[in-house]
Formats: sequence, C-alpha cells, structure tokens
Amino acid sequence: MGINTVILGTQWGDEGKGKIVDCLTPEAQAVVRFQGGHNAGHTLIIDGKKTVLHLIPSGILHAAVMCYIGNGVVVSPGALLKELDSLEGQGVAYADRLRISAACHLILPYHVALDQARERHRGKEAIGTTGRGIGPAYEDKVARRGIRALDLCDLASLKPRLEAIVTYHNVALTQYYQEEAIDFNMVWSELEVQAKRVLPLIADVTAALVKHREQGDSVIFEGAQGSLLDIDLGTYPFVTSSNTTAGAVSAGSGVGPLYLDEVMGVMKAYCTRVGAGPFPTELFDEVGAELADRGKEFGATTGRARRCGWLDIIALRRAIAINSVSQLVMTKLDVLDNLAEIKFCVGYECRGEQLSDLPISAADVAACKPIYESLPGWKSDTYGMTELDTLPEEAKAFINRVEELAQVPVTMVSTGPDRVHLLNRLSK
Ligand code: IMP
Repeated sequence: MGINTVILGTQWGDEGKGKIVDCLTPEAQAVVRFQGGHNAGHTLIIDGKKTVLHLIPSGILHAAVMCYIGNGVVVSPGALLKELDSLEGQGVAYADRLRISAACHLILPYHVALDQARERHRGKEAIGTTGRGIGPAYEDKVARRGIRALDLCDLASLKPRLEAIVTYHNVALTQYYQEEAIDFNMVWSELEVQAKRVLPLIADVTAALVKHREQGDSVIFEGAQGSLLDIDLGTYPFVTSSNTTAGAVSAGSGVGPLYLDEVMGVMKAYCTRVGAGPFPTELFDEVGAELADRGKEFGATTGRARRCGWLDIIALRRAIAINSVSQLVMTKLDVLDNLAEIKFCVGYECRGEQLSDLPISAADVAACKPIYESLPGWKSDTYGMTELDTLPEEAKAFINRVEELAQVPVTMVSTGPDRVHLLNRLSK
C-alpha cells in the first residue's frame, strides 16, 4: 500500500517545505500541488545548484516522479511557460511528467493589474501581496466567471466570454482605481499562443490520482504558503486567497480525506513573515537582524526582506490542530547557532488577559505580547549535521522542549539548505 503524505507549512510560509518535499520524493511516485499559485517560491539546492520553483511541484527534479497541479491551484499560463522554459534550459524533461488539472482556474493579465491596483489604492493598509494576481483569480473562481484550463480546448467559445470579463474588470480598473484599461486583443493574442503549449499538459488529475491509489503508489501533497496565511483560519485579512491547510488537499486535488495518511508540518526553528499583518514574536533588534542575515530571509518570489522573530509555540499549536499534523519537521536549526539564548513564545498577554490560544481577530493578534520561555543557546556550528548524536546537548534540549510543548514528534531536523543537510530523529 502506498502512503499519501501532506507536507505543509505551520507558520506564515517560507518554512522550507520545498526541500522537505524534495528529500521525501524518492519514496514517492507523484507530487501534487493543491492550492495557491506562483505566489509560492520553493528554493531547492542540490549539489550547490539552486533552483527556484513557483508553480511546478518540487518533485519535477526527480526524473521518475509524476508531478500534478491540482484543481485548487490558480495557474498563470505565462508564469507556467516561463518556469517550464527555465527547467528545459537545465535539461529537466517535463512533457510526460507534468499534468495540469483541466479544472484549474487561470490567472490572466487583468488579475495581475487588479491585484497591483488594489495594493496601490490601499496605501498604508496594503496587504503586501506578491502582486501575482492570486486574489483576483480566486475571486473570479468563486464568482463563477473564471476561465479554466479546459476552456483553452475551445478557443472559439472562450473568446467572447473572455472579452466580456475583460470589459467587466476594466470598469473597476479605469473608473474606480483610475488605472489603465487592459487591452483585450493583447490578452487574447498572448493566450492563443500560450494555449498551444499548455493544452498537451491538461488532464483529469483527479482520475490520475485515483489510478495512483489503485496502483499502490505513494503520493506527496505539497502545500504552499503557510497555515497562518489560510483565507479562513489565518490572520485575516492579512492572508492569501486560498485555504493553505490540510483540508484543502481534498478540495484542491479530488483525493478524499480518508485517503490521506500523514500530515507533516514544516516549522522553522524561528518565525518569519513577508508582507503586512500581525506577528507577535517579531524582533526589531540585533537578534532579528542575525536571523535575517544567517537565514538569508529574502523572499524567493519577490526578493522582499522577511520579518523575523522567535518561534511561536501558541501559533504552532493552532497549526497542528487545524491540520491534524502527525509529525513535525524543524528547519533552519543552524540559523540559531550563534545565539546565547533561544526564546520561544508559550503564551500571550492581550489587553490585560493571559491567552493560550491564537486570537481569531488580526487586531487582537496584533495586541498580543508574547510570554517567553528560554533555553541556553549552543554557540557552536550545527551546519550540515546529519547525525542526531553530533548535535550539541543544548540544541537537543531545544528540540525536545518544542516537541513536548507541541505534543507532536519532531521527526526530522534540517541543518542547512542542501538536500543532504537533514537529520532523522526517528532513529534516536
Ligand atoms: P498573495 O498570496 O500574493 O495574495 O499575498 C497575500 C499574503 O500572503 C502576503 O502577505 C504575501 O506576502 C503572503 N504570501 C503569499 N505567498 C507566500 C509565500 O509563498 N510565502 C510567504 N508569504 C506568502
């Protein structure tokens, strides 16, 4: 029997999921994306060579593995083709290994224009989106006016529909946001060309996943962004526009929840956040700068500096509950190597009250002052360690304490960016 494993982020994204997916892929026959779009950025370092993927599942770098983009993903044909060109340039064959669900909604140029116009219009209240058109594409999907991948099979029927949609969005763009209109002819001529290359990749991904199950294959479901950016369960409105949590796997791929065997929650040994929104453990001091610097905390998609702070166990516990996380993977332990003291948040003080749960309201989260527990740092080099025994005692104590507070086993610890910088705690 194969195992279906969900790998998702327990924080605000950028936890290092791509590397973990990549490391576990040799045991799997397929890797599936189920939500988000090319707002994600998965950086993989293999033999020192860096590959950044945004839309295509991280499994693409393993020649024997099928990669699927499930129906819950919003696909920009332009971004997809750019990523495919870059993979092709590196000699990675994809034509027989990548399939895109016919039910995926497309991100088209007016979504990008609307996303960026809104952010400009919000001014100081901006969400800090990636500007990739993700939110407007999901809005069109929910409003039932979206264009899906399967619509590319019948361009003659699509043309008048698309023209009407562009006209509709141009009203908002020009009259409300006072921005330039989108030229339908430009959108159409680009899409006609893109369709030719995208069409051969379109398939019934749900049916393909049923087949994998019948064959006893193991499948990895690769989450993007993080649990606290979930549209429903995150710090709304400072969230992305999809469900990023485990429940989205079924809706976004068509694989029923009882077929999911493991949910791996990836957590950094500290926290980061890109864009606006509350972040109780954020640091503005030299420790925050050290985390940013040693952790190279710059976005893989937008290059923006990430905000850095201590690990938040209260937020982690929420992520564990909403995803039914069955095991945790701690990444970037080595980033803490120089610190004399390691802190982690075990409660909040919010308007005179002590809380042990993450509040629902973003304003309440913003009002939370962290209550910290601390442990001595190890002040020595853990970079690249692969054996549990070689870890300093203080680092082991930190991992043990996190595990105790989370009440979920930390099964793997990542100690550097390369595929091989990983230690397995199951053998302890
Ligand atoms: P959007 O997904 O582009 O709409 O952006 C909404 C929020 O999610 C912003 O705060 C982004 O910075 C954040 N976000 C989106 N994708 C990622 C990601 O892959 N990593 C971290 N943050 C992300």
